[in-house]
Amino acid sequence: MRSEIRSAAKARVIRIQEIFERLEAIVSDLLERNTVTSGHTIRVDTLAAEWAQFNLDLSPEEAAVFVQSSLLSDIGKCLLPEQILSAPGPLTAEEYRTVQQHAELGERLLERSERYRRIAPIARHHHERWSGGGYPDGLSGEGIDPIARAVGIIDAYAAMVNGRPYRDAISENDALLELELCAGTQFDPNLVERFVAYRHHRMAAT
Ligand SMILES: [Fe+2]
Repeated sequence: MRSEIRSAAKARVIRIQEIFERLEAIVSDLLERNTVTSGHTIRVDTLAAEWAQFNLDLSPEEAAVFVQSSLLSDIGKCLLPEQILSAPGPLTAEEYRTVQQHAELGERLLERSERYRRIAPIARHHHERWSGGGYPDGLSGEGIDPIARAVGIIDAYAAMVNGRPYRDAISENDALLELELCAGTQFDPNLVERFVAYRHHRMAAT
């Protein structure tokens, strides 16, 4: 009996490794396609890499974790029903509750990967809010991992400037104003200030 349980567990581990290898291939394929077909799309990994270098006091290791987290924090969505993910309009309350599960599902997936284990708690907490009331744990302020706080900011910014299937894109300046409006409630005000400084510098340089 024990050996059956052991071999079932081993088979699960192998399957999870295969899933991660497939996911990495899919992510890099998507990124390449994005670059070719949509020159104006702002990529979250580019935002993370540039911002980390500009004014975030992260070690090179933490900066690398930040860039990976920006790409993988939503990985739990691949376990959600397709009809909810591709819903053309706003979600019902029940559908929204289902989508919220992606944070915990992502954590569970990532903590099984030796390579991405550090990202697991960030995936869990990237939808927490600075003043509390986020999900899944309702953490607040400094209680939220700083990288998760920064991922929440670039995630929201990229969604605003790139648009969503049911929401038009807005300008970079309007998106920055929106972040500033939500500083201190949804987002860490200090990180918003740093992000806005980075984007203004970046926009002035192009
Ligand atoms: Fe998310």
